Amino acid sequence: CAGRRLAAPAVRRASSRARTMPVVEARKVAVLGAAGGIGQPLSLLLKMNKLVTELALYDIANVKGVAADLSHCNTPVKVTAYTGDAELEGALKGAELVVIPAGVPRKPGMTRDDLFNINAGIVKGLVSAAAKHCPNAIIEIISNPVNSTVPIASEVLKAAGVYNPKRLLGVTTLDVVRANTFVSEARGLDLKDVDVPVVGGHAGITILPLLSQATPSVTFSDAEREAMTKRIQEAGTEVVEAKAGAGSATLSMAYAAARMAESTLLGLAGEPSVFECAFVDSQAVPGSPFFASKVQLGPEGVSQVLGLGTLNDFEKAALDAMLPELKAQIQKGIDFARK
Ligand code: NAI
Repeated sequence: CAGRRLAAPAVRRASSRARTMPVVEARKVAVLGAAGGIGQPLSLLLKMNKLVTELALYDIANVKGVAADLSHCNTPVKVTAYTGDAELEGALKGAELVVIPAGVPRKPGMTRDDLFNINAGIVKGLVSAAAKHCPNAIIEIISNPVNSTVPIASEVLKAAGVYNPKRLLGVTTLDVVRANTFVSEARGLDLKDVDVPVVGGHAGITILPLLSQATPSVTFSDAEREAMTKRIQEAGTEVVEAKAGAGSATLSMAYAAARMAESTLLGLAGEPSVFECAFVDSQAVPGSPFFASKVQLGPEGVSQVLGLGTLNDFEKAALDAMLPELKAQIQKGIDFARK
């Protein structure tokens, strides 16, 4: 999309006429956990986004400095800073999109599930506040384990009487970003043309790239398909190990979350054909109340959850293998929230 710096291959825009359609309305975006490894570059990318009018940065530490720093960039987005429980309301009031990267990241040897004990409580608290202060906002959760934190958020919103499944999404865009990069490298394709849907969840074997549905169509031998799938599933661990204790993916995650936020804002602005994969309330797979699926984004948030399409035998087996783990992680989140 000409002039759009976060050009996103999976985001399709129906026509050049449609591209000119979004009118910038007042769009307040809140980032909760804005001073962290993801929060800072994500906030910078949002400060550069023409669809954002106000950027409310919230963190329990160091956020005033981040906001002062960002506010000197000569882009029109107004930056405001909030810290501590007493200021959370100010960050959330009037927000149409709340992006949550708050919480601890993995260290080598840890699974995303190992983060549950700390991050579950953080997400529960922040989503409770969003339910109170911006009940109609779209909430996008980055904090891991996404397979559990999204179900926690849904229970919190249900208990507050404001749950709208169209407005709660787990951010799995990084899996798509990685799949696009790796497939394009492996096949010498132009990155801007490559789109690989990634479904399931956001941890280990629950990450299922649908290589058979890649655009453009690519063919793999059995061994290549297995290796590519594993690389996409383990890409987060690749970064965790390379950072050797200093955290997990932050820059690529910020890029992915900024792309997701931009797609969401385009949908809100009435752009007709915006698609992303995200971990959402879904009927795609019986028995799994949430599933990362390709979704269409519109004025109401998720306007449509697309089905899985035709899977090949490898993908069918991978889907069967992931389901017990995915369902258990979802249930763990639900149980925690209901406790
Ligand atoms: P970080 O430790 O650098 O930053 C986290 C920030 O959250 C810190 O600034 C901290 O002060 C803040 N925070 C903690 N409790 C808070 C609260 N109650 N309210 C507001 N802010 C709070 O961590 P990083 O690297 O930014 O990662 C954040 C999360 O994102 C982790 O859970 C990580 O696992 C997850 N992640 C998710 C990915 C995805 O694809 N969905 C990819 C990479 C990381």
